[in-house]
Amino acid sequence: MLGGVSFREGTSRDLRATYGLAQRAIHGAAALRGLVSSEPPSEVEIEADWRRERPLVEFLAAQPGGSYWIAELDGAPVGYARVVAFPGVEQISELMVDPDHQGRGIGGELLARSLAHEPSREVGRLVVATGQPNDLGLYMGFGLMPAAGHWQLRCPTSAFVERRSREVNSRETSVVALKPERAVLEWLRLERPAMGYERRALHEFFARERACLATFDERAGVARSLCWVSSEGEIGPGAAESPGILAAVVLAALDRVAATLEPEYLRVFATTGSWRLLRRLRLLGFEIRWPSWIMSSQPLPRLDCYLPVRPPYVL
Ligand SMILES: CC(C)(COP(=O)(O)OP(=O)(O)OC[C@H]1O[C@@H](n2cnc3c(N)ncnc32)[C@H](O)[C@@H]1OP(=O)(O)O)[C@@H](O)C(=O)NCCC(=O)NCCS
Repeated sequence: MLGGVSFREGTSRDLRATYGLAQRAIHGAAALRGLVSSEPPSEVEIEADWRRERPLVEFLAAQPGGSYWIAELDGAPVGYARVVAFPGVEQISELMVDPDHQGRGIGGELLARSLAHEPSREVGRLVVATGQPNDLGLYMGFGLMPAAGHWQLRCPTSAFVERRSREVNSRETSVVALKPERAVLEWLRLERPAMGYERRALHEFFARERACLATFDERAGVARSLCWVSSEGEIGPGAAESPGILAAVVLAALDRVAATLEPEYLRVFATTGSWRLLRRLRLLGFEIRWPSWIMSSQPLPRLDCYLPVRPPYVL
């Protein structure tokens, strides 16, 4: 069935080639949804995206305990899977098959090689699925069940700024930027109650790459909500002790990106558990662009208090 396709473990030398493959596979899924034209992305576009996403891809690929499998045909990659291990959880960060080679069992073979153990209480399994019937169905065969929606939202910046200026009032919670070491410590406190996991290495990475906005409980002297924002306008992840305070810090991040970068669109991912945030974003003019799914081997405690990572390699 797999006629001529062979499998091998990838190395850092394969990262750029599999990144290009991922862009073509995601583009194929977006075209099926009518979100983009069927014309695949050019090499110039892929290279520009690679420059932006490379630090995160290299960081994920370098984490110990994960796996990286490549399917090849005639010496060229036609699919790959990466699993990233954090304490207590394995996240499938990418599973990509070239659109010309899908539906032949390559994705299943890659997953079977990448996921060596059954998910357990001690080590859960997690993925952000794009939400086509084939990826949802495939993941269910590997112990993953739908936990919540994972929605890609976007809004023209001009519309956001206009609506926001009418909405902001003196009761808005004040937001500060945290020093990197403090940000990591506060993440370690707020992430586990929301996600069920604590990913120190991921936050140490973001502390080098992004700024951390926070709201504070002044009396207790601890953060009530946190949100990473990159200098290129990537917002997330975010975590909070309550859903309302998550919305406050995410809106502050959106205000910051709108004011400093003035992009054509503001983009963010939200879980469907975060109703307070979703309602505020919708009222501010955000549209649902790509509703996808978080799939997990065990329930995730408080996704109403969590904002996903962007780009969405890991939750
Ligand atoms: C998702 C993707 C990796 C699947 O790769 P693939 O090589 O086509 O997958 P396979 O041929 O091995 O398996 C497809 C599975 O979908 C299942 N499937 C197809 N339609 C289905 C449906 N309507 N309901 C349930 N399962 C369905 C098939 O039964 C098959 O599973 P099985 O082999 O256990 O029977 C590929 O389509 C892809 O790259 N998509 C774009 C990127 C993406 O969405 N990646 C996943 C998120 S990171």
